[in-house]
Amino acid sequence: MKILMVTAETVPFAKTGGLADMVSALAIQLTKMGHDVKIVMPRYYKIDRSRLVKLEGPMAIAAGTVETWSAVYTTTMPGCEKLSVYFIDHEQCFGRDGVYGVPSETDFHDNPYRFAVLCHGAFQLCRKLGWFPDIIHCHDWSTCLAPVLLKHVCRYCGFEKTASVLTIHNQGYQGQYSKNSFPALGIDWGLYYGAGFEHDGGINFLQAGVSSSDMITTVSPTYAHEIQTAEGGFGMDGLLRARTDVIKGILNGADLRQWNPEIDKKIPETYSARSMAGKAKCKEELQKKMGLEVNPDIPVIGIVTRLVDQKGIAEIFAPTYGSIYQICTDMKVQFAILGSGESWCENEICALQSKLPNLRAYIGYDDALSHLIEAGSDFFLMPSKYEPCGLNQIYSMLYGTLPIVRKTGGLADTVDNYNQQTGEGTGFVFEQLTPRAIYDTVGWAVWAYYNKKDHIKKMQQAGMKKTFGWDEAAEKYVQVYKEALERGCGIRK
Ligand code: ADP
Ligand code: GLC
Repeated sequence: MKILMVTAETVPFAKTGGLADMVSALAIQLTKMGHDVKIVMPRYYKIDRSRLVKLEGPMAIAAGTVETWSAVYTTTMPGCEKLSVYFIDHEQCFGRDGVYGVPSETDFHDNPYRFAVLCHGAFQLCRKLGWFPDIIHCHDWSTCLAPVLLKHVCRYCGFEKTASVLTIHNQGYQGQYSKNSFPALGIDWGLYYGAGFEHDGGINFLQAGVSSSDMITTVSPTYAHEIQTAEGGFGMDGLLRARTDVIKGILNGADLRQWNPEIDKKIPETYSARSMAGKAKCKEELQKKMGLEVNPDIPVIGIVTRLVDQKGIAEIFAPTYGSIYQICTDMKVQFAILGSGESWCENEICALQSKLPNLRAYIGYDDALSHLIEAGSDFFLMPSKYEPCGLNQIYSMLYGTLPIVRKTGGLADTVDNYNQQTGEGTGFVFEQLTPRAIYDTVGWAVWAYYNKKDHIKKMQQAGMKKTFGWDEAAEKYVQVYKEALERGCGIRK
C-alpha cells in the first residue's frame, strides 16, 4: 500500500510529545513490512536545511485567499533508508520557533493558515512526485484539513482512489478558532457547515476531521470508548458516537530502537532483564546529576511530563493535603522531575525544590535526561486526568521502572495492578484522581519497595518482558487502511 503520513511533528525532526514518537515508529514499521510510506511535515526553522535535499522548483499552494508558494526539502528517516520524509518549507508559516506555539503565545494566532499550508502542500507534493497514495493518514487537529480536502475538494483529481484515516491522539486539543480564520483554509464557505467545521459559531478542525475521515483511530482501545462519553469527548461525544462504526482503538507500541535499555546510548550503562547491574549505575548517575543524595537504598520516583492539566499536575503539585510536598516530608523517597509547561506549575516545582532536599527538578525539555530518568528511577509517577495512550509508562516498564498510574485510557490498557498476595503485576494503579489517592498509592509502592523486595523484582521482570513492539499494532493499522479503502472509495465512486 502507498501511505502518506501528514503530521505536524515526527521524531527525530520535531517533537512536542508522544505523537512524534508514534508517527515515526508506525511509519518505520509499515515500511519494514513492505509498504510504500512517505511522511510530510513542515520544515520548522530549527530543522537544518543544509542536511536536506531540495526538490526542484517551487510548489503552488492554494491556502488562504491568494495562492502562495513553498519549497520542498527531503531526506530519509535515520535508520530506515526506504522511508522518505518531505518538508514543506514556507518561511512565513514555519520560519520561527515552536510547533504549535511558544511560551509567550502557546497557540499561534495564524495556526489555521499554517496548517492549511501543510495540508494543501501534502496534496501538491503527491502531484509533484506523481505518487498518489492509497491512504492519507493524518494525526490530530492540525492535519484535519487533509481529509476535508480529500472528500470535498474536487480540484484534487488524481486522488479518487485515496481514502483517509484520522488518528486522534488527544481529544482535548481540537483546533478551535474564530470564524474569521475560515478564509485562511483556502476552501469554499459552503464547507464551513458542509464539512463540519462550524462549532459554537467558530471553527473546529478536529470536528471537521471526524466528520470527513473514512476511518478514525485512537491510540488505545479504552480511549476509543472514553472519547464517546460526555467526560472524554470534550463536547464531541455525540458526533463520535454517530461515527462509532468507523472508530477503532489501537494501542501504540514503543520504538524499540530508541527505547531499549539493552542498547540505549543515552544512559551510562545498559542492562537487561537478565542482568540488572547497569540499572543501579543509572540510578547512581541520576542521583548525582539531579543533586539528590547518592544512596541506592532510597527509592527514586521519576516524572517526565508536559506540565499541563491533562497530566494531573494540579493534584500532584498544588499545595494541598496529600500532594507531593507531604509525600516528600512523610516518606523516605526521592523525586527526579523533568517537565515544562504551565508557568504556575513550573514556579511551584521550583519553590518545592528550595524547600525539599529530596525533590530535584529540571524545568525544560531534555531528551537525554528523560532516558536517564526512565532508567535510573525505581518508580515512575503518571497520575493523568486522561491519557489517550501514554508512552512514558510503557518506556518505564521496558526499563524495569514500575509505573504508578491512574486507571484511565492507555494507562488502564497497559499497566497491571500489583497483587500483594502473589507479587504479580507491572505497576501500581489507582482510580480516583485526588491528592489523597496519589499519596496512598505512592505510599503503597514505597512500602513494597522497603518490605517486599522479591515482589518488586518480580514486577520489574514482568514489565521488562512485555513486548510493546509495533509489529502487531502496524498490522491492525493495515486492516484499518483496508477498511478505509472499502468505505471511502466506495462513497466517492
Ligand atoms: P504526551 O504525548 O501526552 O505528552 P506521552 O507519554 O505519549 O504523552 O509522550 C510523551 C513523550 O514526550 C515521551 O517520549 C516523553 O519522554 C517526552 N517528554 C515529555 N516531556 C518531556 C521533557 N520535558 N523532556 C524530554 N522529553 C519529554
Ligand atoms: C498524545 C497523548 C498521549 C499519546 C500520544 C501518542 O500526545 O496525550 O497519551 O501517547 O499522543 O499517541
